[in-house]
Amino acid sequence: VVSFFTSRTVSWEDGEVRMVDQTKLPGRFVSASLSRPEEVADAIRRMVVRGAPAIGVAAAMGVALAVVRSDAPDMKALAGHVRAASSLMRSTRPTAVNLFWGVERAEAAALRSRSVREARERVSSEVKAMEEEDVAANRLLGKAGARLIDNGDTILTQCNAGALATVGYGTALGVVRAAVEEGKLVKVLVPETRPALQGARLTAFELLSDGIECTLISDTAVGHMLANGRADKVVVGADRITRDRWVFNKIGTYQEAVLADRHSVPFYVAAPVSTFDEKKTHDQVVIEERAAEEVAVVKGRRVAPKGVPVANPAFDATPPELVKGIFTEKGVLYPPFGASG
Ligand code: MRU
Repeated sequence: VVSFFTSRTVSWEDGEVRMVDQTKLPGRFVSASLSRPEEVADAIRRMVVRGAPAIGVAAAMGVALAVVRSDAPDMKALAGHVRAASSLMRSTRPTAVNLFWGVERAEAAALRSRSVREARERVSSEVKAMEEEDVAANRLLGKAGARLIDNGDTILTQCNAGALATVGYGTALGVVRAAVEEGKLVKVLVPETRPALQGARLTAFELLSDGIECTLISDTAVGHMLANGRADKVVVGADRITRDRWVFNKIGTYQEAVLADRHSVPFYVAAPVSTFDEKKTHDQVVIEERAAEEVAVVKGRRVAPKGVPVANPAFDATPPELVKGIFTEKGVLYPPFGASG
């Protein structure tokens, strides 16, 4: 049995990218080794790897692959290869800002080198550092958040903001793990998170594997549970926190925030600094629209009539007035959330 307290979802190993194939979970826990940027881009699009911090590090590693595999004779030729890989990575998914942050870091490490050899070394150590930093940040923000979690709490989450959404340990589930490590008894209420079912497939799997008590609910049960005192706190992750401090996260997060407010349940966000976007305001963010089949087809079987129009936004935006605190590796931010994370 895998322990998600210590496992790694994405890692850089001997010039290759190793990742847990999340499309196979919970049935099979298998990893894939990727050696070309195109394979990484495809894995991000198909959600073999998903979750904002995990795709940030994976995309950076995709750029790193272009550098270590490049046959460029000089820096000028290498820069061309790096830029092509970067724009390929940037085209995969639009909403999580970590992806753009990761690509930029790997690109900068390569381009400030004076030789192709130096670029290979720099980019390899940069992505390895990003991998380590991600786990360290999650442990810190987990600890910061755990201070607000009481013994006996039931925590409602959304999607999977766990070890599987990061390199390791998790953001929202990192808070849960840190509370458990402090000896607190916590339970997690896990909405299935239609249409891709990250809650049912991944969060439930992670928590069960680690022996953390959880209950799976349908997305439609969220209001009922909050209205009936079945959750003490809400803790979710984030894909982007904009300059005006709106929180973009998995579709369904906004309704949790509104309902939590209605029933006086505190709503918290757990996210590393790499999830903060100091350039954009909420009205400038692109919300990914995914394939209609994700909604209309269940387990390979069409459940909706052919031809019905489908909308499938993958994320929503929660305004700052509904957020009681943001847990980061630098500490907890409270309202009114100032500039800079
Ligand atoms: O579409 P996904 O599965 O990549 O979306 C993931 C989420 O929305 C997570 O809640 C978010 O990335 C925070 S993860 C630490």
